[in-house]
Amino acid sequence: MSAERRPSADTDAQEQIPETGIPLKKLFIKTYGCQMNVYDSQRMTDALTADGYELTDSADGADLVILNTCHIREKAAEKIYSELGRLKPLAEAKKRAGGKMTVGVAGCVAQAEGGEILRRQPMVDLVVGPQSYHRLPQMARDAASGAPAVETDFPLEDKFDHLPRERRVTGPTSFLTVQEGCDKFCAFCVVPYTRGAETSRPVAQVIEEAERLAAQGVVEISLLGQNVNAYHGVDPDGRETGLGALLRRLSRIDGVKRLRYTTSHPNDMDDELIAAHADIAEVMPYLHLPVQSGSDQVLQAMNRRHTAEAYVRLIEKIRTARPDIALSGDFIVGHPGETEEDFQQTLALVREVGYSQAYSFKYSPRPGTPAADREQVAEDEKTDRLARLQELLNAQQMAFQEACIGRTLKVLLEKPGRKPNQLVGRSPYLQAVHVEVDPSLSGTIVDVAIEAAGPNSLAGRLVETAT
Ligand code: 5AD
Ligand code: SF4
Repeated sequence: MSAERRPSADTDAQEQIPETGIPLKKLFIKTYGCQMNVYDSQRMTDALTADGYELTDSADGADLVILNTCHIREKAAEKIYSELGRLKPLAEAKKRAGGKMTVGVAGCVAQAEGGEILRRQPMVDLVVGPQSYHRLPQMARDAASGAPAVETDFPLEDKFDHLPRERRVTGPTSFLTVQEGCDKFCAFCVVPYTRGAETSRPVAQVIEEAERLAAQGVVEISLLGQNVNAYHGVDPDGRETGLGALLRRLSRIDGVKRLRYTTSHPNDMDDELIAAHADIAEVMPYLHLPVQSGSDQVLQAMNRRHTAEAYVRLIEKIRTARPDIALSGDFIVGHPGETEEDFQQTLALVREVGYSQAYSFKYSPRPGTPAADREQVAEDEKTDRLARLQELLNAQQMAFQEACIGRTLKVLLEKPGRKPNQLVGRSPYLQAVHVEVDPSLSGTIVDVAIEAAGPNSLAGRLVETAT
């Protein structure tokens, strides 16, 4: 999906800190995992560019390299250690040239492994957990002068109060983290341990960030949170505000034309949020609502705290409010205790709901989580179930794509496509759409008549609208 929306080199960046003549230091950030990490990498970039760095698109020659890591599945820590191994020759080359490449590990692996990373890989100079990114400029300074730094505690101060308010925008869309952490403790999931307890940013802080984005030309904002629909920020009157009410406030900001949010838990999908889909034009008809399994027995083993039936009824309610809503989800196959019959119930749920697209994974034991110590499903069984589930999900996705042919969709044009005079944008349903148009239309929402569909994108022609 949008994981490729990483910060990229800004070719117009100044080469020197204005008025000082000191050359800018080069920063390279590699982002793994979810959109929250993409957002965090942008905020780390904001903090470090305010401290004399400029972003570059290669680790080669960089003064500071940060790996912003993910711990959710499969040998995450091992992947990071091999990536660090690959950086070693570049760090040595930098040293031979008389410089120093400071190497940092951020994100969920940093949080989970802490100082152990420095012991296993001495080339690492700093380890920083997601709640301490505002301390990064100081840590980078300490590390560059030879003092390794580890910050994985949950600090008392709010990082958002200490990160620069001004954000660098890179197009008409932007992420905005409104909520972090999770209190749900699903039996398979490491997030409550790496990202900590659920917290929500205050309403005024979110509005201010959104207003600044809109003032810089952002027209679509995606609100992010590990459990975003559990949002309960306080408003300036001290009242708790849910995500539905927050969306309503954000929709009134001048220039904000589209709002999205991800990722949600079914149990936090309250009536106010469902109503937001029905009557706020800016809230896009797309919802990522993971169910993980269609079997009550497995849902219970996962500690999801709802039944398959309750999920299906919830989807019906959401579809009553917004009939054209496109649904996305996450599924895990081979969770401990899952039998073939349980898996059949997942397939049945998928058939009943109908997804426009979805993510599916083989269960991967995460050390320290309850399900990791249970009896495991055989690997070949997991592989086989995943293939069968993906066949069904892919067929649903293709059917959804093809059903768009002949329709006219509003597309927010985001960036150049591969062909000259082609732009790529997103439909309300989050599909990528290619269209041949004047590049000056980038950043605007246009009507596109859809003419062709592939599994991952649509193509169409600009509809001339009377002005
Ligand atoms: N194994 C496999 N998939 C997982 N996910 C989370 N933890 C695990 C795990 N241990 C999936 C869930 C979640 C998505 C972000 O990643 O489907 O919704
Ligand atoms: Fe992990 Fe999501 Fe469950 Fe929280 S709700 S524990 S983030 S899967």
